[in-house]
Amino acid sequence: MPADLNPIDKAKFVAAKRATEFVETGMKVGLGTGSTAAWMVRCLGERIREEGLRVVGVPTSSRTAELARQVGVPITTLDEAKWLDLTIDGADEFDPNLALIKGGGAALLQEKIVATASDQMIVIADAAKEVAQLGAFPLPVEVIPFGWQTTKALIEETLVSLDVLSRECSLRMNGAKPLMTDESNYIVDLHLKRIGNPRQLALVLNQIPGVVENGLFIDICDIVVIGHGDGRVTVR
Ligand code: 5RP
Repeated sequence: MPADLNPIDKAKFVAAKRATEFVETGMKVGLGTGSTAAWMVRCLGERIREEGLRVVGVPTSSRTAELARQVGVPITTLDEAKWLDLTIDGADEFDPNLALIKGGGAALLQEKIVATASDQMIVIADAAKEVAQLGAFPLPVEVIPFGWQTTKALIEETLVSLDVLSRECSLRMNGAKPLMTDESNYIVDLHLKRIGNPRQLALVLNQIPGVVENGLFIDICDIVVIGHGDGRVTVR
């Protein structure tokens, strides 16, 4: 373990390291995005160097692709790989049903495509990501730039009939400009506080013209590997 990690980074590191033990030679592995997933990519690189593990990764963002190249994890595209054995990724929240909020790092679209095209999805998270009910973390929704204000208004209107505590929505910014995803889209963050019915919300959001995808991952995650600040790991 790297020296001088604070408890949160230690928790992320131990979860990431444990999850890489699920990776076997010959596997095609989806590589998630975010600070926890970055530890996992580094740990995979270490296993490749030290044990001769042979894998190919499919990155879920340009950032992850860059890191994989730096640490020696061979990568390919999803179109080349077609179907994956395993995806390992972080999450912003997970609930008792292993439903997730993802997209805090604005990579939810590629993350959802890659995880869905995998036999198994393992989420790696520090213990603070575990919640009884999703929604405290703002739900990211990827929208196309054309007519984004109309799309945002339609999202707000749609929320009226749903079991949420708040309906505030905001365009995610990068300094003075809207943040652009790898797909050249925008992110609207939904500050809902409580999501009573994540499955219903995920379905209705994706029916709004202009919405590309939302950050609710329902029935996609199989296992959550949880890291704790004292170095313990638990698995759900
Ligand atoms: C990126 C994501 C990340 O997995 C999520 O934001 C968790 O990030 P971190 O591991 O840095 O806490 O969904 O789009």
